[in-house]
Amino acid sequence: MTFEHIFGTSPLVGATAPGRVNLLGEHTDYNDGFVLPTAIPQCTTVHLGLSLDGQYHFYSEALTQRLDLEKDAPVPPGYAAYLLGCIRVLEQQGHYIPPLNAYVTSSVPIGAGLSSSAALEVAMLRGLRALLGLELDDVQIARLGQRAEIEFAGVRCGIMDQMASSLADTAHMLFLDTRTLERRVLPLVAGTEILVIDSGFPRTLAGSGYNQRRAECEAAARQLGVPALRDITDVKAVEVLSEPLRRRARHVVSENNRVLEVLQDISAEHFGQLMNASHASLRDDYEVSVAALDILVATLQQTPGVFGARLTGAGFGGACVALVVLGQAQSIAHDVLEQYNRLGHVGKLLVPQLT
Ligand code: GLA
Repeated sequence: MTFEHIFGTSPLVGATAPGRVNLLGEHTDYNDGFVLPTAIPQCTTVHLGLSLDGQYHFYSEALTQRLDLEKDAPVPPGYAAYLLGCIRVLEQQGHYIPPLNAYVTSSVPIGAGLSSSAALEVAMLRGLRALLGLELDDVQIARLGQRAEIEFAGVRCGIMDQMASSLADTAHMLFLDTRTLERRVLPLVAGTEILVIDSGFPRTLAGSGYNQRRAECEAAARQLGVPALRDITDVKAVEVLSEPLRRRARHVVSENNRVLEVLQDISAEHFGQLMNASHASLRDDYEVSVAALDILVATLQQTPGVFGARLTGAGFGGACVALVVLGQAQSIAHDVLEQYNRLGHVGKLLVPQLT
């Protein structure tokens, strides 16, 4: 079903934004810390046209779901929360958004930790920018997307995903200081490629312990007398905290230090060790891994040609990312998935995309 089939008119604009995979720097962004995502080939496209009956009409091709909403309707759950959330944050800024038809197509997997929600927000905001001639730069788009997610989807997320979707490409890593938004575009590690495998164990961010982790980090920062955990650089400083805040803070401080190491132009082997250490820290100190992710990561780490592997995204399920020898991702994925799926899992190769 095309836009024309669903709405009986043609779209006026179309806009696209990618999902992202985070290579290093997990659960650091809402602590004002450092992250290192890259864009993935999968992306989301939103086509927009004017609605002539005063209502918003949304259609998701992936969900084959249509929603008709009064112009001042409360924000509903599901994908429409992101679309209407973007409209509402622009209205809060004083923009007039006319009744619209919006048609969403996406190849970004949902619930895999690859930022399908940020891709939807950034695509929607880019579409609105094009349709209405709004003067918004890519950083403003990212900030508005983050606000839509916090205020209308109920996840107190950081700025990483929207910045990655709005500013990253698939050929580079985006080093980002989430406090200042200072960023550096770095080439991917020479002689390597990125492998992303879905564990088949889905997660939903809003229902997860995500907001709880964020609250724990804020409590830890308060007890340490700093504005955010980013301001602690010596991992020993967290020892004064009691558990579980000590573990949580130790993850954030050590993870920030791992991201900063990458700026030293390190080898693929060193990068891989940092990824492995990141996974151990997310599993043991931050406690956002699950058994399926641990098994998949361990299988990857034991496979020749893999420099390092870790869960990626918020955790609690979703995908793993690995850094592997250039040209070997497909065959490594094949071997790893054979072992992993033999245990009853339904793991799936996501990046590189099968041609
Ligand atoms: C989700 C959030 C991001 C970030 C990651 C964890 O993807 O949207 O802001 O906090 O989790 O690193």
